[in-house]
Amino acid sequence: MGKDVIVACDFASAEATFAFLDKFTGKKPFVKIGMELYYAEGPSIVRQIKARGHKIFLDLKLHDIPNTVKKAMSVLRNLDVDITNLHAAGTTAMMRAAIEGLTRPDGTRPLLIAVTQLTSTDQESMERDLLIHEPIDQVVMHYAETARNAGLDGVVCSPLEAGKVHERCGASFLTITPGVRFADGDIGDQKRVMTPAAAKAIGSDYIVVGRPITAAPDPVAAYERCVAEFVD
Ligand code: C5P
Repeated sequence: MGKDVIVACDFASAEATFAFLDKFTGKKPFVKIGMELYYAEGPSIVRQIKARGHKIFLDLKLHDIPNTVKKAMSVLRNLDVDITNLHAAGTTAMMRAAIEGLTRPDGTRPLLIAVTQLTSTDQESMERDLLIHEPIDQVVMHYAETARNAGLDGVVCSPLEAGKVHERCGASFLTITPGVRFADGDIGDQKRVMTPAAAKAIGSDYIVVGRPITAAPDPVAAYERCVAEFVD
């Protein structure tokens, strides 16, 4: 695992998702399934994409009391995904419970990744709405360290934060980074973006790329361009 392009399949239906994946003849991109597709289609969408031979990052961002998250994770572990995630804001007790729930009787489990502060949260909204007054980059690093100490495998973060996360939490602590755009592409609603090549140089382990691939005139060519810049 590591150093791969994860395609964010932010589609509203199985039909639209398969129409997209069918374009990749012979290739099996790592797929991210988020809340929209999962809530529309349920666990069968995970089983179907897995049966087609794709690795899966199930991006459901769990956040609840430890017992509830543990039970939810013990259901998700049967879906055989490769990566799943939760909010570090659920605290150490919740993250430890999540690992317990996610671990199968044979000791294996999917990688478990923490969301620190969402990239849609800025200093002002964090202070106003969450009453957190530390600088946001320190909050992100603190959440990353808390996740590592709870036994998680990595964090979702901006590619701009990936280098610092590795410095603080170790080279093997994974950084999964959305907010990736081609140098000549539209940035859309992402605020802080980086090219696949720059994300590679800064040490991201996985990049999550949605619209630059899904909305491209030739999605397969766009995917291959990402792989060429980030992996090869
Ligand atoms: O289309 P785009 O490349 O912006 O898609 C990025 C994907 O990564 C989306 O699925 C988005 O929800 C997700 N994401 C993000 N920023 C975060 C966490 C997840 O863009 N902080």
